[in-house]
Amino acid sequence: MGRIPQNFIDELIARADIVEVIGARVQLKKAGREYKACCPFHNEKTPSFSVSPDKQFYHCFGCGKHGTVLGFLMEHDHMAFPEAVEELATRFGLQVPHEGGVDPSARRADEPLFELMERVARFYAERLAGEARARDYLAQRGLAPETIARFGLGYAPNSWNEVLRRFGAAEPDRQRLADAGLIVEREGGQMRDGERHYDRFRDRIMFPIRDARGRVIAFGGRVIDAGEPKYLNSPETVLFHKGRELYGIYETRRARANLTRVVVVEGYMDVVRLHQSGLDYALATLGTATTPEHLRRIFRLVPAVVFAFDGDRAGRAAAWRALQQALPEAREGREMRFLFLPEGQDPDTLVGAEGRAAFEQRLQGAVPLSEYLVRELSEQSELAHADGRARFAESARPLFARVPEGVYRELLLERLAAVVGLPPQRLEELWTSARKPPAAAATPPPPGRRASARRATGAGRGSLVRQAIVRLLHYPAIAGEVSLAERAGLDASEEPGIGLLRDLLDNLRAQPAQISAQVIQRWSGREGGEALQKLLEREEVITDAAAAAGELRGALVRLADLAAGRRLEALEAKSRTGSLAQHELEELQRLIKEMGHRDVRGG
Ligand code: UTP
Ligand code: MN
Repeated sequence: MGRIPQNFIDELIARADIVEVIGARVQLKKAGREYKACCPFHNEKTPSFSVSPDKQFYHCFGCGKHGTVLGFLMEHDHMAFPEAVEELATRFGLQVPHEGGVDPSARRADEPLFELMERVARFYAERLAGEARARDYLAQRGLAPETIARFGLGYAPNSWNEVLRRFGAAEPDRQRLADAGLIVEREGGQMRDGERHYDRFRDRIMFPIRDARGRVIAFGGRVIDAGEPKYLNSPETVLFHKGRELYGIYETRRARANLTRVVVVEGYMDVVRLHQSGLDYALATLGTATTPEHLRRIFRLVPAVVFAFDGDRAGRAAAWRALQQALPEAREGREMRFLFLPEGQDPDTLVGAEGRAAFEQRLQGAVPLSEYLVRELSEQSELAHADGRARFAESARPLFARVPEGVYRELLLERLAAVVGLPPQRLEELWTSARKPPAAAATPPPPGRRASARRATGAGRGSLVRQAIVRLLHYPAIAGEVSLAERAGLDASEEPGIGLLRDLLDNLRAQPAQISAQVIQRWSGREGGEALQKLLEREEVITDAAAAAGELRGALVRLADLAAGRRLEALEAKSRTGSLAQHELEELQRLIKEMGHRDVRGG
């Protein structure tokens, strides 16, 4: 689908009342100019969650969550950005437009594909009702009719062309069937019956794979009884990317409003059976290892995940792969644990045998990621001996390197260091010195530049930039009053944060905004977005738009002067050694003249 145009998002932000939207979901109390509540994103007794009707955003001083009304819907209702936009648009009776410019065919092709998938899923479900063999198989596997209906399970008839004939009457329909992965092109070309294609799924139990919104995007088909392959899946299509999708995500989201954790299992049957048993927060990756993308999706939904793996060798290998994928996503506030089932069992058989409570008991005892890591590496090294501990340190190094900076990383370092028997700092030094040549590590940052910038602005690092940004944030419309020359004056500046200021100015000049929240929304998830949010919260600008415009332009002029001044200094220094080129000489003369006009250099 095409992008949602910026001006539409701006309009939604301007029309929506964040107090009303949040107030419908969280009990708000008025406190001065703002509203307060106990934070819906973390557990607390005293309210530190506040909503500002002036700024049209929310902020929790406890957990740090913050954002615009769209951000709130995404975070609180677990919506993707387009869903949140749609939700707001519906309130105002607006139709969400999509830009056709980027890929005009994308939208036209996608829409009918979802519909087609839905119709085919219904067809499979109807066929199941008429196929006793398939129904008996599911019953024998312990599935209740309600469960079959909830997951929309079906049966693909034992035919080479039933789907093809039903849904692919004309050539364009056939093309869509092929795009959706429902039919397969024959090798060797056309057959005697004149058909180039045949049905992909034949005589199989069909599991529709739905996206988070419940749209069917692919299928998994299981043979009844024995046969190869046991599961046949849709190929990658425009709708379906294996490394991203999670089987059961729609059913999980629908089952509970207040999800706190999910269980990731390996198979379709595991998910279905767990949900049936009341463990309705189970998801499966689709025949692939867990990817960081899967994890990011999961952590948008819940703060905790337990991976459950079969107790066999394959399950253990899969668990280790999952750990490796998970390390880059590890951080404080996210909990990842590993559960190993008894040999020969999978979640399906186990929950069938011992029920929900016992299975949840096992989940309680799942091993935290850090412990699993330590345990696995210890098994390979003899920790009683120094060389065993050295080996442990060596094998932990590349794994540890995948963990992003932060509290979690520090804690993990402490844990690993304790095993090795070294102070954490020492272990990290050993690891870093093993990687980098020592000379490079000791090189100090280049001198000069920073110090002179501070001296020149005279008022702390980047303070002019900051003043300018803060004014733009509070009164985004004043960007229109900045002249082309004033904007161009920033090109030569090297102040900290100048890139963000330039981007803001360009963006707001090209596409004017009226209120702060629009700017925050445009920058959400973009570099500098967090900084903008903080600036807007911390810095109060007590002034009006006209004054702010004047202050902004003043700051821009001074920034341009600073850059010019620094260039002048550099040229003068060079001229003292007597080697200015003609164009440099001209530049120097021009700068001297300009600087003479306004004597505002420095600060
Ligand atoms: P399993 O072989 O563990 O099957 O594969 P299962 O889920 O326990 O299935 P049942 O209980 O025998 O019906 C786990 C998952 O790996 C993928 C599927 O997603 C399956 O659910 N898989 C497995 C395939 O994609 N193709 C296969 O041939 C086998
Ligand atoms: Mn199984």
